[in-house]
Amino acid sequence: MNDEIEKMARDFFGYGRWDAPFWFIGLEQGGSNNEARAKAFSKLNHNGLCDCGKFHKEIGEFRLHCDKPALVPTWHKLMVLLAAFQGHALDKERLREYQRDRLGSENGETCLIDLCSLSTPTFAGAMADRPFIDERTDRIAARLRENAPSLVVMYGFAGMEYWPTIATRELVRGEIAEIGKTIFVLAPAPTAFGQTMAEWAELGRKAAELAGYCTKEANAMSPETMSIFSPKLAARFDALVQKYPVKRSALVPMLLYAQDEIGYLSDAVVAEVAARIGITELEVRNVATYYSMLRFKPAGKFNIQVCTNISCMLRGAYDVFERFQEELGVGNKGVTADGVFSLEEVECIGACCWAPAIQVNYDFHDELDANHVPGILAGYRGKARTEGSR
Ligand code: FES
Repeated sequence: MNDEIEKMARDFFGYGRWDAPFWFIGLEQGGSNNEARAKAFSKLNHNGLCDCGKFHKEIGEFRLHCDKPALVPTWHKLMVLLAAFQGHALDKERLREYQRDRLGSENGETCLIDLCSLSTPTFAGAMADRPFIDERTDRIAARLRENAPSLVVMYGFAGMEYWPTIATRELVRGEIAEIGKTIFVLAPAPTAFGQTMAEWAELGRKAAELAGYCTKEANAMSPETMSIFSPKLAARFDALVQKYPVKRSALVPMLLYAQDEIGYLSDAVVAEVAARIGITELEVRNVATYYSMLRFKPAGKFNIQVCTNISCMLRGAYDVFERFQEELGVGNKGVTADGVFSLEEVECIGACCWAPAIQVNYDFHDELDANHVPGILAGYRGKARTEGSR
């Protein structure tokens, strides 16, 4: 195994983003050219994941993300499950669009992970013979605890030895269980003999019931609506825009709720919010860029905003900001490698009387000096370990 392939075997986990609400974990990557895949991974690697579309274009596989892509059999059933979970329409055209634009996208709502990143033909055999499998399973489990996705589908009964590490307890075949804040589904391999689309849709519906996704809400949504938001949030938005005489008044709260769920204001978020309110995407962006708490790029689980405006600056804000940079090893707008923290310098956050002040997500910390920084970080690290959710 050359160095590049070994790095992929150890560090490449799949597609999408770790803080996506919907995860699918399979046994191994498809395809066959490990060399090309390793090169693509080293070029596109972002915290062990790549954007699915960019990755496949990089290795010369254009059929999966072209205008009318062929549905990948495994992904097809996973998307059927997800659509049923979200209460969305199951027609093939929508699934094609979803595969082309959103499945495993770096800006999307899904994370596609494999226990083994080496493609099957080269490393067929017992899972236990595959390199780094135990270490990788532990790392996936740690990421899961950090991010607490809403839904995790583990598929392939050949992985029974590894699934308990990820789910934190044993599950029986076909079980759907709520563990912590996550719904786990232990499904067969989608391509296993005898699997039907109806069975996969049923798994999605049962998981939605257990998650408390109100079937009434899901049914009330137009089956033609392929919202990027969960049915719960989509229903909340439907109610919110009715509340104001002018729909536009719902814009800022909608953006905040959307950011809480998706992690940031992706192009898809901006487009859907604009459509729901009936304004242009440019108008959404013009408003959103005014507010420092709204962001257009993924942030860490805890986004630290250090005010360096005049009152804070005069009272030592730059010492505080520099200390955060030292402690975290990232600069302005940086995200730590584990995804727990991001850091940015911002304008006045309205706490001038208690300068210097910072904001971490929705929490304020004020009257700070540089010596407070390690304690603040330790507090949030502890929170990340115990709560694990975005
Ligand atoms: S100047 Fe820092 S909070 Fe206002």
